[in-house]
Amino acid sequence: MIDPPIAMLAELTHRCPLACPYCSNPQELTAKEEELDTENWVDVFEQAARLGVLQLHLSGGEPASRRDLLELVVAARKAGLYTNLITSGVGLTPKKLEDLDNAGLDHIQLSIQGINAQIADRIGGYKGGFDRKMHIADHIAARAIPLTLNAVMHRENINDLVATMDMAERLGARRIEVACVQFHGWALQNRTALQPTRAQVDRAKDIIKAESEKRMGRLVIDFVPPDYYSDFPKACMGGWGSTGLNVTPNGTVLPCHAAETIPTLTFANVKESSLSEIWYHGSAFNAYRGTDWMPALCQTCTRRDIDFGGCRCQAMALLGDPDAVDPVCKKSPDRPVVDRLVTVESDGLAESNLIYRRM
Ligand code: FES
Repeated sequence: MIDPPIAMLAELTHRCPLACPYCSNPQELTAKEEELDTENWVDVFEQAARLGVLQLHLSGGEPASRRDLLELVVAARKAGLYTNLITSGVGLTPKKLEDLDNAGLDHIQLSIQGINAQIADRIGGYKGGFDRKMHIADHIAARAIPLTLNAVMHRENINDLVATMDMAERLGARRIEVACVQFHGWALQNRTALQPTRAQVDRAKDIIKAESEKRMGRLVIDFVPPDYYSDFPKACMGGWGSTGLNVTPNGTVLPCHAAETIPTLTFANVKESSLSEIWYHGSAFNAYRGTDWMPALCQTCTRRDIDFGGCRCQAMALLGDPDAVDPVCKKSPDRPVVDRLVTVESDGLAESNLIYRRM
């Protein structure tokens, strides 16, 4: 029995003014000319609502790069979807924000690249980006739009954790998502520069614990620890094909953000099949759904229904084998691959050489 999805990530565009080295979008980006048009997206939102999706995450790239963003939000709300805009804030203006608010936009997730202009503009590769972001954050607060701050942490900024949480409270966010960088897509080639050290990660965990208690009732802190330092893999997507789906800018439907890195899978497109057909019967969705596909080690593990076999894209990225046990798992015979990477890559490179993402 396959349940309907709860959430859909609509990657409206790959265009983005920022050039973050930890971008998890694929190496090959979709050009503007290949993006779904307004009508396509509206149809996808209506199909999603009929399928059972409750939450729509509008993302990118920078979703504000789409001229029809307002129209899309109006259509999504009309379809009955809870709408969450995941934005860098750059490209939004007070007027656009006002229109989105009036259209009923439910929530904003604002990404931050650092606690001040110096570090944020360096990481985002966009001079003046921090100031524009702070300007729009003030307007979000003034309009009382529910706000979550998204902070990707890595070796250069993980020591600023407390200051990052202070900033979230200052900006009126009720929640902060502190996610250690996930190495997918473009981010993989910056792994050596971004990988935090073990000492940093241990300290971060202590800080998260203490700050969560201290800020209880004011700020909810969601912490995503770095995979490579964990003993067990994350339950990626809450289990493949179980709760969510992604639609890329050209309409390809993916079980997870990085699924296109798995060369053995084929993906359907909303221009050719209905969302329902893809969700229930698409070969990519069924490839790792449930537990039948799991290697014997995962099948017999007490954590089988906790981490659902971990992350297939990680097994692909680190071992070249999407069917293998996630090498982050301490029971995996390939765990030494991860340990070696962490030792080599996180050890005191004073100067990091960031490779920026440009369209
Ligand atoms: Fe694809 Fe984890 S990112 S399964």
